[in-house]
Amino acid sequence: MIIRAKADIRASEITPESVYLGRRKLLKQLGLGAIGLTAFGQQQASSQDGSVLPEVKRPSPFDTDEALTTYEDVTTYNNYYEFGTSKSDPAENAGAFEPRPWKLQISGQAENTGSFDLDDFLAPHQLEERIYRMRCVEAWSMVVPWVGIPLARVIEACQPNSNAKYVAFYGLHDRQRMPGQRFAVLNWPYREGLRIDEAMHPLSMLVVGLYGRTLPNQNGAPLRLIVPWKYGFKGIKAIAGIEFTERQPSTSWNAAAPGEYGFYANVNPAVDHPRWSQSSERRLAGSGFGRLFAGRVDTLPFNGYADQVASLYTDLDLVKNF
Ligand code: MTE
Repeated sequence: MIIRAKADIRASEITPESVYLGRRKLLKQLGLGAIGLTAFGQQQASSQDGSVLPEVKRPSPFDTDEALTTYEDVTTYNNYYEFGTSKSDPAENAGAFEPRPWKLQISGQAENTGSFDLDDFLAPHQLEERIYRMRCVEAWSMVVPWVGIPLARVIEACQPNSNAKYVAFYGLHDRQRMPGQRFAVLNWPYREGLRIDEAMHPLSMLVVGLYGRTLPNQNGAPLRLIVPWKYGFKGIKAIAGIEFTERQPSTSWNAAAPGEYGFYANVNPAVDHPRWSQSSERRLAGSGFGRLFAGRVDTLPFNGYADQVASLYTDLDLVKNF
């Protein structure tokens, strides 16, 4: 495979959303969802920002058929404080970031701990595409075709022991490569966490790409988390460490403003943020100008994934544990 830098990819080579979706539907009708079964390791040559990931299993039973957010909007309207605090900063400032080589540190209550080369670590796993809704706590939302690996597969490979009740995630801590870390807007590195049963849920994904291509830096290259029934801040980018813990780990936004951002962060239209309503959202979707003409839609409990995940929380008061 020929590796091309992002700058070499012409805008015309990015498959338009309508064509992309039409192709998916056709494959589905033909029963040809899984295109090849090559694992991630054999795609190492394609690890550069924006290159095509050809061997991706699709479709998934979890896919939404709602209109996709354009590639342009997904990759230019971002939250990524390591590269600045405004929505346009990450796309403008993260271009020079080098997501390879990348070490992933596995630690804590598990058999297989240590420092792994990311590509070796992911090599045994088949990439899958999942079209998920993503709801930001700031009341905007997107529909994105993510490419990744079910988190459960990776956790199983780490062999956590019976003391492992939570999974903590750590972002990269490097002030040279991430200039936003020179400012104390958050306690760096970015941290997130899940209960182990949430992490093992089939919806939870470790993501390496979107729209069939490797993740652009601004979206969290080389590895990020997506948990579609939770607010977007749970989706930690540039993951450098995964730790299995006995106790609930500290998470960045919860530590910064505990009254505003809870550990669970399940999308819940009935629990408002102290400064704004969570009952509806601005959906960035459709072809062209999605951001300008974003319509408002009602926010659904668990972001529309209640059938799949509500049973995880039957014993929990979701108003107290927001
Ligand atoms: N991960 C890191 N490391 N740093 C961040 O600032 N922002 C979070 C999350 N992951 C953030 C992060 C927030 S608030 C959101 S809404 C999503 O990333 C945004 O993901 P996107 O830019 O791909 O839409």
